Amino acid sequence: MKNRIHFNSSENQEVQKEQLFLAIENERKTIGYYDLPSQNIDEILDYSKTFDSSIENIVVLGIGGSSLGAKAIYEFLKPVKAPSRKLFFFESTDPLNIMEILSQIELSKSHILVISKSGSTVETISIFKYLYAQESNASNYTFITDKDSDLDKFANKIGSKIFYLPSNVGGRFSVLSVVGLLPLSLCCVDIKELLNGANKVRESFFNDGYLKESLLNKAIFYAKYHTTYNINCLFAYSETLRYFVEWYVQLWGESLGKKQCSSAFHVGVTPIGLIGPKDQHSFLQLIVEGTRDKSVTFIKVADFENELTVPDIVLPYLESLDTLNGIPFHELITMQSDSVIEALIEQKDIPLDEIIIERVDEESIGQLIYYYELLTSLVGELINVNTYNQPGVESGKIILKEKLKNRR
Ligand code: PA5
Repeated sequence: MKNRIHFNSSENQEVQKEQLFLAIENERKTIGYYDLPSQNIDEILDYSKTFDSSIENIVVLGIGGSSLGAKAIYEFLKPVKAPSRKLFFFESTDPLNIMEILSQIELSKSHILVISKSGSTVETISIFKYLYAQESNASNYTFITDKDSDLDKFANKIGSKIFYLPSNVGGRFSVLSVVGLLPLSLCCVDIKELLNGANKVRESFFNDGYLKESLLNKAIFYAKYHTTYNINCLFAYSETLRYFVEWYVQLWGESLGKKQCSSAFHVGVTPIGLIGPKDQHSFLQLIVEGTRDKSVTFIKVADFENELTVPDIVLPYLESLDTLNGIPFHELITMQSDSVIEALIEQKDIPLDEIIIERVDEESIGQLIYYYELLTSLVGELINVNTYNQPGVESGKIILKEKLKNRR
């Protein structure tokens, strides 16, 4: 993984960088996600081996941090590694969506993972009730939750298998815990390689490696200009990353959009997830000519390991595009991203950088995930918010629970 920064980010900031690094090292003593790359995963691997080929589908009931990470990784790898089982996600109370997913799975050939840190999320529990009313065999369910949550108590009562989240790992930072690892492992994703990728970024940051400077520089820039460049666009040039950018939107938005810890100011950098080349034909106009309130990070894949090529044929009236003849699509998509990057650099007032991942594999997505978790923590520290809580989300949940009580 490489990170090329095209904006001036590092002048006279040595003291600030040192302080920021120390603050994160200190936070690492209490916040659990930092050291997930070196956790023991034997229990997850051993449990996965107990599943035989009669289970064709893994069904996740979860929302937000309990589903988006596993979905991002599964969908990233799907085009290159046919998964051994299909992974389905029930994330919505939209009845049409519930019915649509149900029509694709046979419950008798499925294992259901009920994932909720709090164990009391309305979306997850309502869908669980719906499925449990049809299929109440406890061995068809595995629960992932906090120890002593109401869901833990229920799962214990019916005698299902339960995995616990480390209490100091928050929902949206939990993809590299059992929350993401179990569903992925059950679909034969190489979770060791995933953690290996994350570990490379962790080592690089905490042990003076090549990513330390760019992460610190970027975080300081984003924080310093968070009122000027208050929108951060993540522009990924591969369809494989479309759910990764969704995961990023949740991580960045829910972690950084807050009231500051020691003031009454509301702050945040708005995340936008874009996919190239598709969004060149829509949102790009706003970046190039719109208000100068956006920074842009491009993600590129260095090696698609695929030689699909535009055929060398001449078509009447389309001769002006014969320049496309014989070009491999991987080269075309890279030329497209490079052309947009060049055009934006010419504008001179749009801060941008490029992240280049080696290929579509577990190690690369593990790196990207850990890189973005770290960047989120760094920016949160600098803009003085509690990166790990979500009072804004909680307030709506409380009102909904009141409304539900009053409805009865
Ligand atoms: O990051 C978070 O804390 C949230 O997005 C949660 O993951 C989400 O609200 C789901 O919560 P739970 O896992 O408790 O069901």
